[in-house]
Amino acid sequence: MRLESKVALITGGGSGIGRACAERFASEGARVAVSDISLERAQETAQSVTSQGGEAIAITGDVSVGDEAQSMVTVTVEAFGKVDVLVNSAGVSARNAMPEGSSPEEVWDKVIDVNLKGTYMVSWHALPEMEKAGGGSIINLSSVMGLVGYPVGMGGGFNPYNPSKGGVLQFTRNLAIDSASKNVRVNCICPGYVDTNLLTALTEDAEAKAQLEARHPMGRLGQPEEIAYAALYLASDESSFVTGTPLVVDGGYTAQ
Ligand SMILES: NC(=O)c1ccc[n+]([C@@H]2O[C@H](COP(=O)([O-])OP(=O)(O)OC[C@H]3O[C@@H](n4cnc5c(N)ncnc54)[C@H](O)[C@@H]3O)[C@@H](O)[C@H]2O)c1
Repeated sequence: MRLESKVALITGGGSGIGRACAERFASEGARVAVSDISLERAQETAQSVTSQGGEAIAITGDVSVGDEAQSMVTVTVEAFGKVDVLVNSAGVSARNAMPEGSSPEEVWDKVIDVNLKGTYMVSWHALPEMEKAGGGSIINLSSVMGLVGYPVGMGGGFNPYNPSKGGVLQFTRNLAIDSASKNVRVNCICPGYVDTNLLTALTEDAEAKAQLEARHPMGRLGQPEEIAYAALYLASDESSFVTGTPLVVDGGYTAQ
């Protein structure tokens, strides 16, 4: 068991990458607090974990609201006594962030609030608990879009998703430096396109999906479980000398 006796709080755990992390971590011995803005989805994940013999609780909350971010950490500590691992997986894309017809300012605020401020806020509240526990591992979800821009002709210029994910990468580095002496490691994962609800609007359209697949040298999208294995490495003591690192898991997307 690679996460024996560890407690993990996973935001955005009701779907996609967060759900896959919850299931993988629990199968490796972690007790998991599954947090999501949708209580129903968080409960589904927790149920999936417990039905396979794992230990999980479901928590609801919006990561971009300071009090709710704090409450996720408090409820985790009340239930399991500590937090060793935080996965900041809650996130939105510009496509699904706001109803159609929203202003550019509204879309910017929402994407930056959830992806960047949310990562910052939950980390802010989790870090003192990790210090109390003698150390920990924070795993942020950046993206290949935190490393490169959209391809020519894709209209990415004003898309706030890339700035939000680039911000997550720089936040990761800053916090890693500051937390190293406290035995708290801070890393991020930069996935290529992964087949989750975040992409539904694109993957429902066969032509659009094929175009996305073709942008990856491996000719396919990633699966959430493939990202969860990277998170497992960063959560476990196997990565004990790894901090401040963007771990790219992208089927070759950024090698081009
Ligand atoms: N799917 C991809 O292609 C891809 C690629 C690179 C990075 N990422 C990043 O990985 C993370 C997980 O994405 P996913 O693909 O699993 O998406 P997903 O849509 O399947 O899951 C995201 C979860 O976050 C929750 N959420 C949204 N806003 C929230 C908020 N304000 N507070 C709390 N929870 C909230 C949603 O309810 C959802 O359950 C995101 O940060 C995303 O940007 C995804």
